Amino acid sequence: MTTTLITNIATLVTNDPALGEGPLGLLQDAALVLDGETVAWAGPATAAPAADHAVDAAGRAVIPGFVDSHSHLVFAGDRTAEFNARMSGQPYKAGGIRTTVAATRAASDAELSANVARYLREALAQGTTTFETKSGYGLTVEDEARALRIAAEHTDEVTYLGAHIVSPDYADDPAAYVDLVTGEMLDACAPHARWVDVFCEKGAFDGDQARAILTAGKAKGLHPRVHANQLSYGPGVQLAVELDAASADHCTHLTDADVDALASGNTVATLLPGAEFSTRAEWPNARRLLDAGVTVALSTDCNPGSSFTSSVPFCIALAVRDMGMTPDEALWSATAGGAAALRRTDVGRLAPGARADLTVLDAPSHVHLAYRPGVPLVTEVWRKGVRVI
Ligand code: NIG
Ligand code: FE
Repeated sequence: MTTTLITNIATLVTNDPALGEGPLGLLQDAALVLDGETVAWAGPATAAPAADHAVDAAGRAVIPGFVDSHSHLVFAGDRTAEFNARMSGQPYKAGGIRTTVAATRAASDAELSANVARYLREALAQGTTTFETKSGYGLTVEDEARALRIAAEHTDEVTYLGAHIVSPDYADDPAAYVDLVTGEMLDACAPHARWVDVFCEKGAFDGDQARAILTAGKAKGLHPRVHANQLSYGPGVQLAVELDAASADHCTHLTDADVDALASGNTVATLLPGAEFSTRAEWPNARRLLDAGVTVALSTDCNPGSSFTSSVPFCIALAVRDMGMTPDEALWSATAGGAAALRRTDVGRLAPGARADLTVLDAPSHVHLAYRPGVPLVTEVWRKGVRVI
């Protein structure tokens, strides 16, 4: 196997407290050795072992590739008109999803796959090396299974979200749609997915329906994650913890009991500030969750309705500016936190044995991601030991 030494790193974020300072395991004047697809060594540049090749990071920062654990990339069309109307004062409603469902059903497989590839290229250029993506804009057996097949061409982290909203075809009989989502649609979708998700919200699915959907998914070998407490208070977060979901996503409207449940369970709270930004909604309170001891992840929620950004650096800047996170906490949440939300330990860190997925910033430290918002600081991206950007 070929080894590569990356040296002259001003700040290296390892996310391994045993390797450096604080929860980020920070090292200054550091080096990293990659062996094929994995990290072989991380430490002070002066102690670095020899390698087949050497790369000079020229005093830049090196961080783990971002782990974007929540996106909705299998869609067609866009919702510019809805965004325009919202920025003129109309509120965000889950019903806008129907517009994208119609466009997605009408699109060819090739169009949908090209769309996913396009947004993934965008994300990669901004430092994302692992991403999850969902179905949820098909809402028929064939269209949901197709969305998952297409998603699986691009990532291993695929989520069945047949329960995004009640299909417009079942507007008069939501119970029959839940039967479909937990029956024939699940059977067709489960082979293509790792996760099952539900939008537990007024106007989408209530707590009982969400429980039925997640429980049926679990019985088919899918692991739960939940769109919870985005637009209002509700049962989603506590249901997620009860069912040992990997993640409760959004967490914008939380009671003390919701926060306590998250703190006592294994469910990560995934915050999606792009959604609050693009819907002019109240920010989730990351500080409250962190102070309670909850594991927090930060992701884009990239979708054409509520958060049309593929940029994790943008989400980091928002989280630091408006959600009470420190730059260190936001960086951790967008890397190791995202990995935790996908129950992964091979990504989101740069310690021996981890996957060699990393991002080089044109800045001396990761703090610049929030300090220099909107500036394209990602200069190199490496995935499985290969430079791809
Ligand atoms: O995570 N909350 C539900 N789903 C998406 C929005 C999807 C859409 O508006 O198209 C979200 O924000
Ligand atoms: Fe979402």
